[in-house]
Formats: sequence, structure tokens, C-alpha cells
Amino acid sequence: MAEFKIRTYNNIAIAGLERFPRDRYEVASEIQHPDAIILRSHNLHDEPLPETVKAIGRAGAGVNNIPVAECSRRGIVVFNTPGANANAVKELVIAAMLLAARNICQGWDYVRHLEGDDHQIHKQVEAGKKRFAGFELAGKMLGVVGLGAIGVRVANKALALGMNVSGYDPYVTVERAWQLSSSVIQASSLDELLGICDFVTLHMPLTDQTRGCIDQGRLASMKDGAVLLNFSRGGLVDEAAVLAALDAGKLHAYVTDFPTNALKRHPKAICLPHLGASTREAEENCAVMVADQLRDFLENGNIRHS
Ligand code: MLT
Repeated sequence: MAEFKIRTYNNIAIAGLERFPRDRYEVASEIQHPDAIILRSHNLHDEPLPETVKAIGRAGAGVNNIPVAECSRRGIVVFNTPGANANAVKELVIAAMLLAARNICQGWDYVRHLEGDDHQIHKQVEAGKKRFAGFELAGKMLGVVGLGAIGVRVANKALALGMNVSGYDPYVTVERAWQLSSSVIQASSLDELLGICDFVTLHMPLTDQTRGCIDQGRLASMKDGAVLLNFSRGGLVDEAAVLAALDAGKLHAYVTDFPTNALKRHPKAICLPHLGASTREAEENCAVMVADQLRDFLENGNIRHS
């Protein structure tokens, strides 16, 4: 019976690792000649891939931390786990829209810095609250760019909150998007979508085609006071242009899971530490899916993507 060695990175959930029976698999972070690698966000671009590797499993959706072209050249199969963390990301995107619309982070920060006794705090709250007045999601137009597992879930949940939703995906029509409500309006281009939306949320992969696609020109075409949400990859936006749009009041807020030095303290940017997929449930779903994929591949030669 063949035995397999799997190198792991990033504390892949134990529930996934348990799929590899100990009598056939050696699974550890320090393995020298692995048959396969499992990773989460660890960047494989800057290190040599061991000659022995036959497959790489990404416990997540994006594969931009994997040298995919080199893998194709060498016949290494790359797996990801589409949909396994989609609910977690969807819930955070909905929360992020509320954070931005209701100025929750700014209001919370204001309260944390109040001083005095309760009577004085109450007086400061009443005096200060006006500047944190926000707006409601109901009736606003949300633009969802990318109609994969996450984008579709965000769109459907936004409809349930009374928002109007427009969707755009260069590869999928709204009619064909998986389980998408028929109330979602299809935009014929990214530019058309940007021009009509109060909120725009990005759910496409980072590729040579999408890098920097939200640039100065596209930001200028957005509605004044719009909110931009990026829970996909930081490189999708031209950061200098986003900062300029925030400073000019063109954007009400930029909410991102990919902080940088320039963004992290900007008063209109809400930066989270790549938390989109960080729930117990999503981590377990991804780990189990990727473990099953690798096991089926190593033992039976099957290549499946779910
Ligand atoms: C993804 O691509 O699905 C996420 O980046 C996953 C993660 O946070 O590890």
C-alpha cells in the first residue's frame, strides 16, 4: 500500500488533517519531500517547490499565493475549495456595509475616547452623535462584481435587506449565475455598474486582467458618496486612486480585508486583518474539502474541485 507525505502550512483545521489516516499518511509542516502541500495564505511564490510534489491544495478560494503557471508546466495539480468559505465572507460583507453606512467604527472610536463620569459621558454622546449619522441599506443599489459562490450569496442576502442589486461578471450572465435571485439586474459592463451603485463589492480573483481594475477613471465614474468594499484581494484596486477618492469625498468609505500602511489609519477606510474566511465553520469546511480532494487524487488519481 502506498504511503504519502503531506506538508502543511497555516494551521489547517484539524478536522481536515484527520482525513489522512496515520498508517498511510505523514502530515506535518517540516516534511522534506512531500507528495502534496496544503496551505492557506502562505506564499509559495518565493520558495522552490520540492521535486516530489504532485498536488497543492489551497484551503480557500484564491490561488494567487501559488505559482500556478509553474505548476501547470510541471504537471502539479492545484486544488482550491470554491464555496467552502462563501457563507463566512458573505456575512462579513453584509456587516461591512452596515459598518460603513452607520459610521459604526468612527462612533465606537469616539465613545472609547470619552472621559469623565457617566453624566459627562452622556452629555458628550448627545453633543457628538450628530456627526456619526448614517444612512440605511434598504432602497440603496448594491453592485456585485463577480458572480461566483460569494458574490451570489451577497447579492441574495442584500435583496433580503431591501436593497436593489446589480450584478456583473465577464464570464457568467446573471441568468446563469448559480442560485441567483431573478431580482438581480445584470449590468452590461463594469463601468455601467459603477455608475449606478451606492455600494460596490468586489468578488473576483486577482489575475493579470483584474489587477488594478478599480483605477482612477473607474472611481471617478462611481456615484458621489459611494462605498467600495474589497474582500477579494487588495491588488484589485489602485490604492493611490482610492486614497485620493476618499480624501476628495468621492467615496464615503473603503472597507477592505487587505490593510496597508497608507490605508490603515485613514479616517474613511475600515481595514480588517483578512478576516473574511476566518470563522470556525469556514476553516473546517475548507480543510475537509481540501483533504478529501487530495486524498482522492493521491489514492485514486481523481481530480475534483468540490
Ligand atoms: C480565500 O481566498 O478564500 C481566502 O483568502 C481564504 C483565507 O482567508 O485563507
